[in-house]
Amino acid sequence: MAANRTLLMLPGDGIGPEVMGEVRRVIDWMDGHRAVGFDVDEDLVGGCAYDAHGVPLADAAMAKALAADAVLLGAVGGPKWETLPFSSQPERGLLRLRTVMGLFANLRPAIVFDALAEASTLKTELVAGLDILIIRELTGGVYFGEPRGIEELPGGGRRGVNTQVYTTEEIVRIGRVAFELARKRSGRVTSVEKANVMESGVLWREEMTRLHDTEYPDVALSHMYADNCAMQLVRRPKQFDVIVTDNLFGDILSDCAAMLTGSLGMLPSASLGAADATGRRRALYEPVHGSAPDIAGANKANPLATILSYAMMLRYSFDLGQEADLVERAVRAVLNRGLRTADIMQEAKTLVSTAEMGQAVIDEMAALSN
Ligand code: IPM
Ligand code: MG
Repeated sequence: MAANRTLLMLPGDGIGPEVMGEVRRVIDWMDGHRAVGFDVDEDLVGGCAYDAHGVPLADAAMAKALAADAVLLGAVGGPKWETLPFSSQPERGLLRLRTVMGLFANLRPAIVFDALAEASTLKTELVAGLDILIIRELTGGVYFGEPRGIEELPGGGRRGVNTQVYTTEEIVRIGRVAFELARKRSGRVTSVEKANVMESGVLWREEMTRLHDTEYPDVALSHMYADNCAMQLVRRPKQFDVIVTDNLFGDILSDCAAMLTGSLGMLPSASLGAADATGRRRALYEPVHGSAPDIAGANKANPLATILSYAMMLRYSFDLGQEADLVERAVRAVLNRGLRTADIMQEAKTLVSTAEMGQAVIDEMAALSN
């Protein structure tokens, strides 16, 4: 019997429950065939939590997330909750998880599977073989900076304020994650900010440079302005290996990088906290895509980003590299067999539902294990 690993599943809203249902089946298969089991608990986050408890993340669910070895999240949000006051909106539930769990490092790999190279809106030769890693700072910057708010102006009209702010400590800890991971890859880091306009960007560049020179001189570091990076990502994406950037630029650039791979429905992510004395890190895994309310409940959503997020969980939280490889190889095999959900459908391929895609991954895992 495997040791008790605890996992909290937060399916959330929209297509979240459907894609998470497929992961649940993959988890059960792993438990039965590879003795990789979890004590799984489930709770609410987002709009569904608001409907049940009047808040987008109840304290009980927050406490479970803090206690779990890992959290797997589907997606949050939808038109039903868009008119709620800001503090009750589904997204606040996700942001609370990130802050309270201290998940400062968000890893968003953008990998183009061979079978999908032609599904990209970019020319195949630009994206074939693409494998980049965006590392987004997740608990600082303009998402959380104070002061913030909307105020009435004396003469009429209002003023909306957010604050972009970074400290040395915040920059250095995300920089370390980037340099360490780059050492396991091709050893190149591009640090992205707007040092030509923003003081927080000047500081970001200086601290990254100092960290590089003192601790990681073996890694190749370059700097790029965020607008140029957006342009370079669609012009010549393979020039990048690891990109490290702040919370807001990381949000934008990772959506951009996601589309290089053919669909937002393919991208997993990991959000990690600092290691404690025992080496354990708090961690949350989620697909980069949103709740896609337009197709929710239609059995059309692509479950692969969530299944790949589960693979990242096996690798980063539980050191189960072989099992993570098995899941990733099964996904690759399913795509090679020509199975496609609607978001990645191509001519002459086989259109499948959410559940059929999940089953196909399990069948491939079984075949690859024999
Ligand atoms: C993401 C999402 C979130 C973000 C939203 C849902 C709050 O876009 O994870 O990229 O902006 O961080
Ligand atoms: Mg985003």
